[in-house]
Amino acid sequence: MSNRETILITGAGQRVGKYLAEQFLALEYRVIITYRTDRADVKLLQEKGAIALQADFSSQQGVMDFITSVRKNTDSLRAIIHNASTWSKDKTVIDNPLHFNELVNVHMFAPYWINYHCRDLLEVGDGLRDIISLTDFTIRKGSDKHIAYLATKSALESMTLSFAKSFAPQIKVNAIAPALIMFNEGDDDAYKHDRLKRSALQIEPGAKVVFEAVSYLMHSSYTTGVILPLDGGRHLV
Ligand SMILES: NC(=O)c1ccc[n+]([C@@H]2O[C@H](COP(=O)([O-])OP(=O)(O)OC[C@H]3O[C@@H](n4cnc5c(N)ncnc54)[C@H](OP(=O)(O)O)[C@@H]3O)[C@@H](O)[C@H]2O)c1
Repeated sequence: MSNRETILITGAGQRVGKYLAEQFLALEYRVIITYRTDRADVKLLQEKGAIALQADFSSQQGVMDFITSVRKNTDSLRAIIHNASTWSKDKTVIDNPLHFNELVNVHMFAPYWINYHCRDLLEVGDGLRDIISLTDFTIRKGSDKHIAYLATKSALESMTLSFAKSFAPQIKVNAIAPALIMFNEGDDDAYKHDRLKRSALQIEPGAKVVFEAVSYLMHSSYTTGVILPLDGGRHLV
């Protein structure tokens, strides 16, 4: 194994997670990503040096199997970034109630289990370590279409506080609560216009602002148990 510090990022086969992986690789960290769907972007990350582990957090067994796989690939961690997420509409849950379990497993059980079972990897050596979860600004506003999604993301914020208390002082545990970061493929102009108008800064900022927030949290020696808003001033509008 290498002496370089290792960053674990879940759900990094596309969009924000992929961008974070690329930035850490450029800074010469060892990067372990998880992906569920095999995409060309996963291969690109592998070519840049990422260790890509296929993992499906839909079931508890999938999460538990992942721990075995991550331990085969590293004996220490500098940071864990819980990025994997399923942005399901309530219609999906109502049509198939079993989908509620997937939301629980991806947003709650996976971070919970990974934190407990990777704690010793984070505690190797001296120096502060980080666990950072991606939650959602909308937790504080509510939504009429994503009630189950937001409830499970909200639990992740609760766990952030509890793990920050439990894992101090060596491991800092924080969350980032983004509003709009990137539109999804297929979002139409009317929707985009409406979303942009909802924040004071009125931009689609892209994944770079998530990396800025992650970097701030990792560099801070005095920030733990915090939910960092990343919302372009949504609360002002
Ligand atoms: N983008 C935004 O504007 C925005 C706004 C608010 C919050 N956030 C949060 O920021 C983070 C990154 O956002 P994003 O837009 O880049 O998310 P995204 O495109 O939806 O990517 C999330 C990743 O999670 C993976 N994932 C989903 N279900 C999984 C499962 N059962 N097991 C393992 N992996 C699974 C997906 O893999 P597959 O592709 O294989 O399904 C996907 O690569 C997320 O936590 C999101 O909730 C984003």
